[in-house]
Amino acid sequence: MESELDYWGAKALLDWQVELGATEAMLDAPIDRYGLQDQKPKPARASDAPPPPVRPKKIDPIAEATKAARAADALPSLRAAMEAFEHCDLKRGARNLVFADGQAGARVMIIGEAPGRDEDLEGKPFVGRAGQLLDKMLTAIDLSRDKNVYITNVLPWRPPQNRDPLPAEIAMLVPFVERHVALAQPDVLVLMGNISCQAVLGKRGITRLRGTWAEAWGKPVLPMFHPAYLLRQAPAKRQAWADLLELRARLNSLN
Ligand code: URA
Repeated sequence: MESELDYWGAKALLDWQVELGATEAMLDAPIDRYGLQDQKPKPARASDAPPPPVRPKKIDPIAEATKAARAADALPSLRAAMEAFEHCDLKRGARNLVFADGQAGARVMIIGEAPGRDEDLEGKPFVGRAGQLLDKMLTAIDLSRDKNVYITNVLPWRPPQNRDPLPAEIAMLVPFVERHVALAQPDVLVLMGNISCQAVLGKRGITRLRGTWAEAWGKPVLPMFHPAYLLRQAPAKRQAWADLLELRARLNSLN
């Protein structure tokens, strides 16, 4: 009799649960979830916590360039370090790295601005119209890239549409220029135009700076008008001629 009541009692309970929507048995034994409430979840151990998100490390392109340039102990390894430098976006738009031309170790090192279209195609500095004028200027004082001049640029990659280099681009490439000078060991530097004055002397104002010797990186430095400017402003050739004579006189005095 008692077991019959148990049976009907249990069935009524089951029917009630089915009515509530519990149509499937999940476990063999019931769980008293009210009783479970007292068991607070254990605090997660540090080792169970998900690792903090990894933030990408912020790269300082000037520090990277300085490290890469300092590690170069000769001109070929400097060139390789520049080829491998990935922090300047100009590299992605350029066809070639324009490293240098002329005689490494020459007494005169010319620093121009940046490759243009012709230089980008050939991978050599000053081969377009401005370069042809530069060659004529050098010949006039018995200098030439075939004999006694070494030529490079502040930027080894052509800026898009020949736009002016950005200050950040100049700053990240200066460590390579400085190392280039240290490895090429010229007696004097000639800076062509404002961008190279900015890179080497830290200031612009070519009209004021040109023709006056300054010093940078332990070398005498002569700023001059850029040949591309002389192509547009023929009257400025007169001052450029005076500056070339000044360069010749300095070289003669160093003999
Ligand atoms: N102008 C520059 O400053 N450099 C070059 O190589 C060509 C044009």
